This record gives sequence, C-alpha cells and structure tokens, in this order.
Amino acid sequence: MTANHYACPLCNLPLLKHEKVFRCVNNHSFDRAKENYLNLLPVQFKHSKNPGDNKAMVNARRAFLEQGYYQPLVDRLVALYQEKAVTDASKPSILLDAGCGEGFYTHQHKNAENTVYGVDIAKEAIKKAGKKYQQCHFSVATLSKLPFADSLFSWIVSVYAPILEQEFTRVLNEGGFLLTVTPAKQHLMQLKQHIYDDAKEHDEEKTPVECLTLVHQENISYQMHLKTGQDTLNLLSMTPFAFKASDEVKKTLLNHDDFICQADFLIRLYQKSS
Ligand SMILES: C[S@@+](CC[C@H](N)C(=O)[O-])C[C@H]1O[C@@H](n2cnc3c(N)ncnc32)[C@H](O)[C@@H]1O
Ligand SMILES: [Zn+2]
Repeated sequence: MTANHYACPLCNLPLLKHEKVFRCVNNHSFDRAKENYLNLLPVQFKHSKNPGDNKAMVNARRAFLEQGYYQPLVDRLVALYQEKAVTDASKPSILLDAGCGEGFYTHQHKNAENTVYGVDIAKEAIKKAGKKYQQCHFSVATLSKLPFADSLFSWIVSVYAPILEQEFTRVLNEGGFLLTVTPAKQHLMQLKQHIYDDAKEHDEEKTPVECLTLVHQENISYQMHLKTGQDTLNLLSMTPFAFKASDEVKKTLLNHDDFICQADFLIRLYQKSS
C-alpha cells in the first residue's frame, strides 16, 4: 500500500494504492485500467454516458498535434514553466494539466524532478494518454470536482479547456500558478472564413479569471502551412465551429493542400497570492 496524491471523488479522503486498486478508508475503490489510468468519475457525476470529446475528435486532435503545427506553443509553455515555477528542492513541483485531452501538452512538462497529472472527462482521450505517456498520471475526472486535496499543485496548465476558477484555486498551493491558453483575436481566421460569411475575431475577454492575480500575458502568433487537406480537416474537427461546416466546405478543404492559416494564442499566467 502506497500513498499518492489522489483524493476520493466521493468522500474527499486520500486514496491509497493497493497494487491495481486505489481505495479510501471508507472503502470506495477505483481500479487502475490496463492502459495506465484511473477512472475517478462516478456515474452520478456524469451528465451523459460518454461526456467530453468523442473518439473521432480525439483521434483527429492527436493526428493534428503530432504533425507539430502547435509546437511553438508547447515550447513556450514549457519555457514559462521552467522560468517561473518556484523551484524548492525540499518541495518537488506537482503539476496538473486540467482538461489534458490525449496528453500532448501534459507529457512535455515532465522532467526528472516533477510529478505530472492529467485530468479529462473524456475516457477515450485519457485511455490514449495513459497508454502512450507512462511517466505521467492520468485520470478520468471532472474539472468541477477535482480528485485532489487542497493546495497540492504548484502549477496548473489549461489549454483550450474549461477554466473552473474556484476549483483550480482550491487545489493550487499558495504562490502556485495557473497558466491558461485561449484563442486570441485572429486564431484560425482563414479557416473560419471558409465557414462563415462574416467571420468574427475571437473575443479575448470571454472567460475572466477573478480569484487569482494576472502576473504575465503574451501572444503567440504565426502562420501555419497545413501540408495536406487532411491536416486542415483534423484541425477543423478540433474547433467549436466544426459542426457548422457543410460537406461541400469539407470537400473543398480536403482538396486544398498547403492551406495557410493563422495560429494566434493568448497565454495568461495567474498566481495565487501567498
Ligand atoms: C479543446 S480540448 C483541449 C484538450 C487539450 N488540452 C489540448 O489542447 O489538446 C478540451 C478538453 O476539455 C475536456 N473537458 C471539457 N469539459 C470538461 C470537464 N468538465 N472536466 C474535465 N474535462 C473537460 C474535453 O473532454 C477535452 O478533452
Ligand atoms: Zn471515499
């Protein structure tokens, strides 16, 4: 039996690891799946049978991200983590990727000293993450009730995922950071122009964070040269406007190699006051 950082999603008491089962003292138990993840989403927390992104969305996102189009973003996120995270040899860094999808960003934050967790409500995504990135800890859980004790994390990263401010603040330690990535004004503008007659810029003020202090903000903007039509369709299926695309538009995009599209990310770094 070994200690770990998970808390029981039903009673909040620590979960202890016994071989392949995690159990609290109230005997709520959760099996570790063979793909190396924990399912900490009790049925009563689910609003639908398979919440979150479905298998097709998950596969398209992994295929797109593996082409490296978003690598400049990842490199910057990891650099900010290395630069800003408070390193204290007596207190190793524990990081959470909140809404981690298939773990593309999660595993790139792993280093020799830290412990890295990824949480997502989509089982298909977590299955893929757990299988591929054995050095991180993945669980199916909801961001609105994270299966962790208060003040555990020194860093939370949230990339294009819901920002549950109060819950994130609860699990951050004092002085800990929340780094968010959201779309900036021109993100995917050329793709939107294929879908909407009057494509609008993103509203950058959509999800204000109020409990934490904004300590840094920057944009990352560059043009992506999408090599194949399939890359463009994979990117489209990652967007909230994918369902608006007609079959005709999809066909046009599929037959369009070397599509040039703007990536425009807004990075914000918040800190919990100590
Ligand atoms: C646009 S995807 C981003 C995934 C990943 N961060 C990336 O950029 O590749 C948003 C993710 O948030 C997850 N998600 C949405 N609502 C959630 C919730 N309430 N709790 C946990 N995950 C959630 C979805 O399943 C999905 O994987
Ligand atoms: Zn319990």
